[in-house]
Amino acid sequence: MILSPSMMCADFSNLDAEVSMLEHAGVDMFHMDIMDGEFVPNFGMGLQDYEFIAKKAKRPVDVHMMVNNPGRYIELFANLGASLIYIHPEADRHPAKTIDQIHQLNKKAGIAIDPDTSVETVKELLPLVDAVLIMTVNPGFAGQKFLDFVFPKIKQVAQLKDHRAFLLGVDGAISPEKIEELSLLGVDNFVLGTSALFGKQSSYEKIIKSLRELESN
Ligand code: DX5
Ligand code: ZN
Repeated sequence: MILSPSMMCADFSNLDAEVSMLEHAGVDMFHMDIMDGEFVPNFGMGLQDYEFIAKKAKRPVDVHMMVNNPGRYIELFANLGASLIYIHPEADRHPAKTIDQIHQLNKKAGIAIDPDTSVETVKELLPLVDAVLIMTVNPGFAGQKFLDFVFPKIKQVAQLKDHRAFLLGVDGAISPEKIEELSLLGVDNFVLGTSALFGKQSSYEKIIKSLRELESN
């Protein structure tokens, strides 16, 4: 089970401590949402935020590029320290080319797919990527509700995963209950935002510990 805090949900008035506390709590990868205000009507994190976290973190950082024509920025995020670069195929005229560009830079490549994007439209990309991130909310904002209609797609991709080694993640409104349910399906990577981790009473350490116990159930 990979637990990836969605850093756009972090307390930016205390970012240094947030990163330290999350690493102390044992998170696996920092999930970093970058938005262009076009592909999604929001802006997520800024480059300075990205750079600060990527520099401070000992754990790997990804980048979830909710931007049109993401090929333009692959090198930028590779240089900023992204270990795993997710593009949205919906936002790229030539996703296979961009995936190759990411691999040329010795980074892991992932596709993040919108709730209304079918597996059929991306299945040719599955053999090319190291990770698939299934959006369980419409991308752009934290704090939304889980979209139940995505559930059959998660099952479908999890079955495809068996004979292709890619990391399967979900992103959006992921609660402890969803983690329990989806880990049984074969989901490996959980992006944790306001539904499971941020803005809660308990410490990150307590929450992460309790989420990990869900896996053994
Ligand atoms: C939304 C982002 C998610 C979001 C998750 O576009 O990709 O990472 O911040 O936050 P919650 O769990 O609150 O939906
Ligand atoms: Zn995200």
